[in-house]
Amino acid sequence: MKAYTTSKRLFERSGAALAGGVSSSLRAAMRPVPLFAASGRGAVVTDADGNRYIDYLLAYGPLILGHAHPELTERIHAAMTNGYTFGLQHEGEIELAARLTEALPCAEQVAFSGSGTEAVMLALRIARSHTGRTKIVRFHGHYHGWSDAIFTAFPSADMKGGAASDAGGKTMPGTGGQSELALQDVILLPWNDAVALEETLRARGHEVAAVITEPVMCNSGCIRPRDGYLERMRELTRELGIVLIFDEVITGFRFGLGGAHERFGIAPDLMTMGKALAGGIALSAVAGSRELMRVVSSGKVSHLGTLNGNCVATAAAIATLDILGRNGGEAFVRMEATAARLAQGLRERIAANGFRGVVNQEGPVFHMMFIDRDAVEDFAAFSERDGALYSDFAERMLEEGVLVRTNGLWYVSTEHTEAHAEATLQAADRALARLAAERRTEGGERRG
Ligand SMILES: Cc1ncc(COP(=O)(O)O)c(C=O)c1O
Repeated sequence: MKAYTTSKRLFERSGAALAGGVSSSLRAAMRPVPLFAASGRGAVVTDADGNRYIDYLLAYGPLILGHAHPELTERIHAAMTNGYTFGLQHEGEIELAARLTEALPCAEQVAFSGSGTEAVMLALRIARSHTGRTKIVRFHGHYHGWSDAIFTAFPSADMKGGAASDAGGKTMPGTGGQSELALQDVILLPWNDAVALEETLRARGHEVAAVITEPVMCNSGCIRPRDGYLERMRELTRELGIVLIFDEVITGFRFGLGGAHERFGIAPDLMTMGKALAGGIALSAVAGSRELMRVVSSGKVSHLGTLNGNCVATAAAIATLDILGRNGGEAFVRMEATAARLAQGLRERIAANGFRGVVNQEGPVFHMMFIDRDAVEDFAAFSERDGALYSDFAERMLEEGVLVRTNGLWYVSTEHTEAHAEATLQAADRALARLAAERRTEGGERRG
């Protein structure tokens, strides 16, 4: 058994002055205790008790180059020694903006912020200002940050509390303290349902400023868009003068430098990026056509933020872009192959240990779930998964030296090797066997 004594002690201590003992509500869901990190190198993180884990949490996504990547660290350090932030313009912003417009098919201009939440806030504002309309269409199971304007309730093992969404046709707040009025402009629809989308847009399109979607529903099941779905979304929004926003906070710099929209060959009007953009340093971006970004350039839309585009963040993003782009982007091919191998290996081991489950993989990210189905293609199906069982599995995986998110989403970095994947699959086999044995014992005790 691994000891988590130091993490437990630190967690008890942290609650004294740090509200809830964590800095982001999701982290409190971790069992047996929210772990305290001591250090990370490559694909491996070490906790405060000295336990080492192959890391697929990757800080909830940003660590595309793994922990403390030597070149990234060196370039961040070089930027820091020159001054971190000036509140003045600097050349790094120009270079990064230009590099992003080269890499992202949908981008003629970009604007920088600090977090994915802020990037989404700006994108919505641009869409409303550009169209003169107010409503935003978003989808069940997608996550677009926690701002009042867009954070709706949806059931998730990670989220504490939260009302049932869309109760009685009304979009419900995702958190206490959120104004119900904030969501009166949000229309919540099922995703991967072209008919529901078309019906709503035909009826209400004249009041809709934007449709915002994750191009792959990474936050709930890593679900692919059905064939033709995003294309139909693109056609309808274009026809009805609605701004199409791809929220690529997860998929940006992860599905290739051009993100998911390059992978699928569909250009949104606007996209948001965050997480992997600067390899673990806080930076986000909105990118889009010059025509749309004009409301920012003209000052019609306020885009504010003290630390926006700071030198450390832009240097980190340029370095991340350089590293990921080397040798024709072979890092993406490698990451995807590792993810595919892990996903297939997990499918086999789930079945071999007598469980029913689905692993949905797209690029270097996948979602593993226990569910009595052969496929999970929409949020309704995803909601049937056994989240408690997965959470037990995640806890057993910690014991086996593998760190995974408690909701089932796994990220792969450039630093995960075949050897890591093999060790992970062996660990999963042991964790699943233990779970199966525990279930048999529990079943036996209940019958006895
Ligand atoms: C698709 C998507 N959009 C936006 C966000 C919000 O990003 P941040 O946590 O940086 O505010 C997230 C975070 O997980 C996300 O997955």
